[in-house]
Amino acid sequence: MQLRPNIYAVGAIDWDRRLFDELIPLPDGTSYNSYLIKGSGKIALLDTVDPTKTDVLIDNLVKAGTDRIDYIIAHHAEQDHSGSIPDILMLYPDAKVVTNPKCKGMLVDLLQISEDKFITVEDGQTLSLGDKTLQFIYIPWVHWPETMGTYLQEDKIFFPCDFFGSHLATSSLFVEDEALVYESAKRYYAEIMMPFRTAIRNNLEKIKDLQIDIIASSHGPVYDNPKFIIDAYKDWVSDNVKNEVVLPYISMHDSTRRMVEHFVDALIERGITVKQFNLSVTDIGKLAMSLVDAATIVLGSPTVLKAAHPKVAYAAILANALRPKTKFASIIGSYGWGGKMVEHIAGLISNLKVEIIEPVVAKGHPKDSDFTAIEKLADKILTKHKELGIT
Ligand code: FEO
Repeated sequence: MQLRPNIYAVGAIDWDRRLFDELIPLPDGTSYNSYLIKGSGKIALLDTVDPTKTDVLIDNLVKAGTDRIDYIIAHHAEQDHSGSIPDILMLYPDAKVVTNPKCKGMLVDLLQISEDKFITVEDGQTLSLGDKTLQFIYIPWVHWPETMGTYLQEDKIFFPCDFFGSHLATSSLFVEDEALVYESAKRYYAEIMMPFRTAIRNNLEKIKDLQIDIIASSHGPVYDNPKFIIDAYKDWVSDNVKNEVVLPYISMHDSTRRMVEHFVDALIERGITVKQFNLSVTDIGKLAMSLVDAATIVLGSPTVLKAAHPKVAYAAILANALRPKTKFASIIGSYGWGGKMVEHIAGLISNLKVEIIEPVVAKGHPKDSDFTAIEKLADKILTKHKELGIT
């Protein structure tokens, strides 16, 4: 598919992929975008595709009439973009891999590409293709420390690799339904980018003076209205939180479930939005998305073998790894005869910069005093949200 004259999308759509890194749900599949730029003098391929789709990339290069590639621009060493480089180097043996020194080291380690195949570039350096000029911009930590993007000066197209991407398989080259892409891009941000919020803020600042007509990321459709996704990112990486409580929980014998249901009603009565996730059935990506904006997380767990239920522990570990901007946390749950469920969960979320609000734990079936404590917890959360000015 052609983005602009002599600029082609030659990557692969992966309609069927449902999991990334054996962890991240992809309900709408994904794509591995690779772009071919034919300059008047040189031809560059920007990124390749996941090794499972190398045949698609090669087919597309043939269809685009590519008898020569001079440069393979490697923005990022992760294999969904770099994994086909060895095959492309075999097909186009005169091609050089253009990347930064850190990415070069990773590609040598991960893909065993020979050192003499590389040309390394510095931040801001340009490379002429004749009538088209590539400018390389380091954008570390979106997604790995070596990641860089390319700004195509004459066409005002920014190719930022993972940055601004979305896990969305679609036959449309450009974004057609912004609401749909917003969801996919937010899921992508939540699952991949959220831990690097500060770095993303710096990178947004770094590109703010570039004149960008098109953003062509390495996953999902191309943005011909870049303001849409840049504004979304500005919102997600800001310190602003919403009047929301995220409530992942597990209940084994209904004690915790009754507390959760009472708590949800109490929050709704106080005008607080609640996102409740039964971890037995929930899509962990939806949980991650809900953490992008919420002011508060409350985990609900029974006590199993003296600790939190393993599924709740998993959700706590995930939240701790994603490091959302959540401001407050608490725990509700139950126990039969003892244990350290609260201490276990609290120890798992030490990365979160949260104020812990006093947990509520019932012995067995919750009693009136437990429901009263739940109401007080909802009151405290409302007070904290009011103090932030978000109610
Ligand atoms: Fe799409 Fe970090 O690779």
